[in-house]
Amino acid sequence: MLSQAKPGEIRSSLPANPPAHGEPFDALLKDVEKLILPGITHWQSPNFFAYFPCNASGPGILGDLLSSGLGVQGMLWSTSPACTELETHVLDWLVTMLGLPEKFLSSSAGGGVIQDTASSAALCALLAARERATNYSSNKKGCDGRVVAYVSTQTHSSLQKAAMIAGIGVDNLRSIDVDENFAMRPDALASQIEADKRAGLVPCFVCTTVGTTSSNAMDPIADVAQVCRQHNLWLHVDAAMSGTAAICPEFRHLQNGVELADSYNFNPHKWMFTNFDCNCFWVADRKALIQTLSILPEYLRNQATESGAVIDYRDWHIQLGRRFRSLKLWFVIRHYGVEGLQHHIRRHVELAQQFAAWVRNDENFELAAPTPLNLICFRHKAGDAANQTIMDRLNSSGDLFLTHTKLNGKLTLRLCVGQTNTQAKHVERAWQRIREEANKLPSAA
Ligand SMILES: Cc1ncc(COP(=O)(O)O)c(C=O)c1O
Repeated sequence: MLSQAKPGEIRSSLPANPPAHGEPFDALLKDVEKLILPGITHWQSPNFFAYFPCNASGPGILGDLLSSGLGVQGMLWSTSPACTELETHVLDWLVTMLGLPEKFLSSSAGGGVIQDTASSAALCALLAARERATNYSSNKKGCDGRVVAYVSTQTHSSLQKAAMIAGIGVDNLRSIDVDENFAMRPDALASQIEADKRAGLVPCFVCTTVGTTSSNAMDPIADVAQVCRQHNLWLHVDAAMSGTAAICPEFRHLQNGVELADSYNFNPHKWMFTNFDCNCFWVADRKALIQTLSILPEYLRNQATESGAVIDYRDWHIQLGRRFRSLKLWFVIRHYGVEGLQHHIRRHVELAQQFAAWVRNDENFELAAPTPLNLICFRHKAGDAANQTIMDRLNSSGDLFLTHTKLNGKLTLRLCVGQTNTQAKHVERAWQRIREEANKLPSAA
């Protein structure tokens, strides 16, 4: 489950120098088993409950293999038209599947693109926001230290990295307070923007989250969007894991207001059975994104691009080259069908809700945050040291893997149900093992 390898252990088992002569493939596979597997944490185990999932499926893996075999580099439409057109098509399918606004469709002024990660998507959104707010001058002249962006105290750390890379600067990234459910406070956001404007700064961007990493909190997108509208700020919605839940209409209320967003992203590589990496990113105004990121050197010029009739995805992200990622997504959607995907997501949520009920009814444990979907934040009432002991013992037992966070200053255990093959028996066993370890605590003796 969680690899028990010590630092340096895997490397020290490898030969110091590369082989002078080629080796039979059999020898390679034997070494994978002997030397590499002990250093693997088993993300695809049904007993993996840590972090957010990074799940996978047979069709996803086959699609990825096919992509590797074709070895396509799809930087331009002309370098493999199918790579671009399948991607555009699948992202349009997803707009409908997730109940996202029509402005994200490729037939509108917007459109979608597959990126490697949510981190890259957020960076692109921030760059486009920065350019829009500075009338496309920061790309030319650099940032002047006056551009500011807004997240909550619970926003993923990738936004901090994005602010560093985008030249906004961490000091100009405002962390807005959250309410008792760890959701961004629109009133605090509005006051901060007003104060920044009074100080002569240039607010450009707000990131809201559908399902924060720490506790799966849901920011009030509609209310934040009103503030953004009032001040003409770019609103990005980061739905990295929880966006997948929108495949089920009954969970879409969690992202009410998404129709007001300028950009949105979620990771099929987290909860939608599509092996890493695969992030879907949509913008409402593709011109703003392309104007921000487009450079056309002579050696990339071609007739299709000049005609304006095609999408060249190289203009939609940081890097130039790109893999044929839509194949695996297409395979996953066709294999499961929308109903199949809904079935599995509902089942994960049901299992998580069952676990939350067990915690609620146990006098030794408590829930530490609301449980809107598939993440349960909970703790033993005996305090931080007890929770740390429970977690360490479970994670070194090999029976399951879970991780922690801090909420309101208290160490909190996180159990996330989202691995493809997790069933009721795995969640039941996890709860049984957690209670067993809790019963071994000195205070329980
Ligand atoms: C809410 C949220 N945003 C962004 C990320 C970063 O994801 P990625 O690894 O795709 O950059 C995560 C990762 O867990 C996340 O939970």
